[in-house]
Amino acid sequence: MLVLGIETSCDETGVALYDTRRGLVAEALATQTAIHAPFGGVVPELASRDHIAKLAPMVRHVLAQAAIEPKDLDAVAYTAGPGLIGALMVGGAFAASLAYGLGIPAVPVHHMEGHLLAAMLEPNPPAFPFVALLVSGGHSLLVDVAGLGRYRIVGASLDDAAGEAFDKVARLLALPYPGGPALAALAERGDPERFAFPRPLKGQGLDMSFSGLKTAVRLAIEAERDAGRLTDEVRADIAAGFQAAVVDTLVDKCRLAIERTGRERLIVAGGVGSNRRLRAALDDAGREHGFEVRYPRPALCTDNGAMIAYAGACRAASVPAEPAPGIIARPRWSLEELEPPEIASTARTPSAARRVGRSAAREH
Ligand code: KG4
Ligand code: ZN
Repeated sequence: MLVLGIETSCDETGVALYDTRRGLVAEALATQTAIHAPFGGVVPELASRDHIAKLAPMVRHVLAQAAIEPKDLDAVAYTAGPGLIGALMVGGAFAASLAYGLGIPAVPVHHMEGHLLAAMLEPNPPAFPFVALLVSGGHSLLVDVAGLGRYRIVGASLDDAAGEAFDKVARLLALPYPGGPALAALAERGDPERFAFPRPLKGQGLDMSFSGLKTAVRLAIEAERDAGRLTDEVRADIAAGFQAAVVDTLVDKCRLAIERTGRERLIVAGGVGSNRRLRAALDDAGREHGFEVRYPRPALCTDNGAMIAYAGACRAASVPAEPAPGIIARPRWSLEELEPPEIASTARTPSAARRVGRSAAREH
């Protein structure tokens, strides 16, 4: 089965082709960084307009790259939520129209399920069950994953998402948008111990909170500035101290989630999942506490079309084969509302669950 995946939930246009036999065959990504940078954050209307401009040429480019004709496609998967409503509607309308015209199903995909399954695109994909740490710009979630579509949220951020905290602190440090990667780069040059920032809710269950940490960083920046000490070196030390506090907190939560669920594997995804320090610290914790840690490559941690194409391939058998007009666009949508794809309902073992995507494809 050949699935075209379309991601437009926020500020990245992602298009990819996933073949259930050959894997990922082509992909393209357009980031809107330059458009939103002057505003210091994503401007939803500008995001929608850019998705409109980019989507059709990108789809044409991806098909040409793989020497695939539209008629060869078996399904078109699109991000149906959560995300910015206008941006979601652009991707949904495009995907549904294309699918309708080709007489194939349009498959609505949950963006966070896409992130959660991104590691499956790597060679030697991890088997179910596992705990997933999903840390993006909009969400910080710890999910107990029993199988495909069998998700229980065991921990979540009570306020800012981890990526949002990175972005806000980056702004306080006058770093360019998008803040997360810029802050991580600055932190590489700093001393993580010079500023001892709080580890919010550490040792207190699985929920997370990052807004108090952000306030502590703001107060430190103001104090250093008032004292005339906010040099580049001090800014780097503050960035390193903040990053260390987030990493330390996330590692503590992951360790506890593994302990409480009894799972033996942790999958990390979402934009913050590409953070080098976080990956190194989780590797150390895994070695020390005896659990396996797996990540998709950094380009599959941040938003992309491949994860949507893959999740769509897993779910294609559950949508009616007859193309139907209409789109699904849900700005807010909990992962827990998802159910296993119909064909997966008999999948009880990790290996059986992983075969589901492929066998579904063969039956199509
Ligand atoms: O998953 P993602 O690409 O988009 C959403 O679904 O939100 O995540 C984007 C978030 C942003 O907040 C960005 O600043 C953060 O991930 N991010 C990072 C890094 N790369 C991206 N945060 C920390 N370190 C990084 N290396
Ligand atoms: Zn995302």
